[in-house]
Amino acid sequence: MGTESTFHHGTASTDAKPIIHMEGIKKHFGNVIALNGVTFDVTPGECHCLLGDNGAGKSTFIKTMSGVHKPTAGEIFFEGKPLSFDSPRDAMEAGIATVFQDLAMIPLMSVTRNFFMGREPTKGKWLTKRMDIDRANEITMEEMRKMGINLRAPDQAVGTLSGGERQTVAIARAVHFGAKVLILDEPTSALGVRQTSNVLSTIDRVRKQGVGVVFISHNVRHALAVGDRFTVLNRGQTLGTAVRGEIEASELQELMAGGQEMAQLEGSLGGTV
Ligand SMILES: Nc1ncnc2c1ncn2[C@@H]1O[C@H](COP(=O)(O)OP(=O)(O)OP(=O)(O)O)[C@@H](O)[C@H]1O
Ligand SMILES: [Mg+2]
Repeated sequence: MGTESTFHHGTASTDAKPIIHMEGIKKHFGNVIALNGVTFDVTPGECHCLLGDNGAGKSTFIKTMSGVHKPTAGEIFFEGKPLSFDSPRDAMEAGIATVFQDLAMIPLMSVTRNFFMGREPTKGKWLTKRMDIDRANEITMEEMRKMGINLRAPDQAVGTLSGGERQTVAIARAVHFGAKVLILDEPTSALGVRQTSNVLSTIDRVRKQGVGVVFISHNVRHALAVGDRFTVLNRGQTLGTAVRGEIEASELQELMAGGQEMAQLEGSLGGTV
């Protein structure tokens, strides 16, 4: 395929130590081999994209990373130490936050309430202890502003925000509550052009705060817009990890789609897919 020269196997040469390092991860569901030895890591402040076609194993892999699944084989190192997550809660407490497509938000509730989800700051002591709504509103407005979104008011219902803004609330929330690794499973797949670029610039901001971002996407252009490294999964296996600037969109696209089929389709449609 002519990709050997730019597409390296194993980990790219970055000096920073990974926050999380997954080594030779296998996951079997009965006879189904969803993952067959995947190695992947993410360092502070980088955006590592995980690309792959439907059924490649992307979601299974990040579920293993976030404590939903236990790997059948392989090792997980968190900040250099071997670790095994017994539940998503364990992973969350370690600082691994996942933003799923469906976001877990309550549309009729305010942005602030969705931001804190019961973790609001309090004021007063003992019997007079209560939620500090003003403080909660202030924090929410400020955190959203940092992400480039000026809310009309903190009591605006989440349901009145655009899909991209909602993604941003979920991302800002994860970062505010101390995420070290932020996993985004296809955050741009349901968004229009403008909202996509908003979410991509949110990812960029988060990265600059030192959070390691794992960005899952089908869309090579979206990945190339923010990614520092790119790992392609194909039928549960890593095809390799490429570094920004060393791989082109067409090469990534070909690896993802399984080369041949894509070339044929392009030929028959007489253009770029
Ligand atoms: N709980 C499960 N039980 C059995 N098989 C599973 C389970 N979860 C995933 N699989 C299988 O593992 C393989 C990988 O699925 P996975 O959802 O990880 O792919 P994906 O890359 O996220 O795909 P998509 O792009 O469609 O979201 C598929 O063959 C799928 O059917
Ligand atoms: Mg998936």
